[in-house]
Amino acid sequence: MSEKTYAPIGVFDSGYGGLTILKELEKTLPKYDFLYLGDNARTPYGTRSFDVVYRYTLQAVKYLFEQGCPLIIIACNTASAKALRNIQMLDLPTLAPRNRVLGVIRPSVEKVAEITKNGHVGVLGTAGTVVSESYPIELEKWSEGSVKSTVQEACPMWVPIVENNEIESEGADYFVRKNIENILAKDKDLDTLILGCTHYPLLEQVIKKYVPDHISILKQGHIVAEKLVDYLQRHPEIETRLSKSGQVVFDTTESAENFNNKASLFMGRPVEAKTVSF
Ligand code: DGL
Repeated sequence: MSEKTYAPIGVFDSGYGGLTILKELEKTLPKYDFLYLGDNARTPYGTRSFDVVYRYTLQAVKYLFEQGCPLIIIACNTASAKALRNIQMLDLPTLAPRNRVLGVIRPSVEKVAEITKNGHVGVLGTAGTVVSESYPIELEKWSEGSVKSTVQEACPMWVPIVENNEIESEGADYFVRKNIENILAKDKDLDTLILGCTHYPLLEQVIKKYVPDHISILKQGHIVAEKLVDYLQRHPEIETRLSKSGQVVFDTTESAENFNNKASLFMGRPVEAKTVSF
C-alpha cells in the first residue's frame, strides 16, 4: 500500500477508553484501516472546562486529518459532549469540508430508545459529560418519547482507576459500589444503565457485582460499530475514500512503552504504539 492511499478511520480518546470502541470496530470492520490516537499525556478530560476539551479535541482532529483520515470517530463521551458540535459546525467547513467527524453519544441514545421497556434510564459518565446534560437533552430529542426519565451520576474516580490499571483493586470496588448505589437511589425503577464513558467497560466485572440483573447495562463499543456499518452504507462518498488493508496503528501523546503495556492488556493482543505530539 503506498502512503498516498493510506486513509484510515481515525479513533480518538483522551486515553485508553477509546480502545473499548476500537476493539469492536476492528472486529466488525476488519478490512478497514484504523488509526487510534490516545491523548494520554493530557488525560483525563472529564474534569476539564468546555474550552480546554474543545481545544484539545480540535488539535487531535487536525492531527488525524493530517495523517490522512477522511473519517474520525470521537470515541470519548466527554469530547463528544463538549467539542463535537463546535467542530462539526465551526471548524469542519473550513478545515476539511469533505471529511467527517462523528461521536458516540447519538448512536448510544438511539440504542437506549430501542431497548428500554419502562423508559427509566440512568447515565454513568465523567463530571464533564454529566454537567453538559448532553445525554438528557439527546435522549429527549431522539428517543421519540420512549425515554420518560433520565438520572445521571458522575464517577470522577473511574477514569483514573482505569488509566492507572487499578481495575482489580479494593479502591475500584469501593468507588464503583458507591456510584452505583447513588444512581440506583436516584430512580428505583431504572431498567437501563448507559456506561456513558468509553473507559467504563473496562470496569464491567466490578460494575456487574452491584447492578441488579434486571437492569440492562449498555456498552458503547458494539453500538458504535453497528451504527458505523450503517453510516458507511449510506455514505459511499466517505466509504470509497477509506483504505482497506486491515491495518491498525496506535499513536499516543505519552510514553509508547507505558501505552503498549496497558493497551495490550485492554486489546488482548500485543500493541506497538508510537509517541506523537501536536
Ligand atoms: N473515555 C472518555 C469518555 O468517554 C473519558 C474520559 C476522561 O478523559 O475523563 O468520556
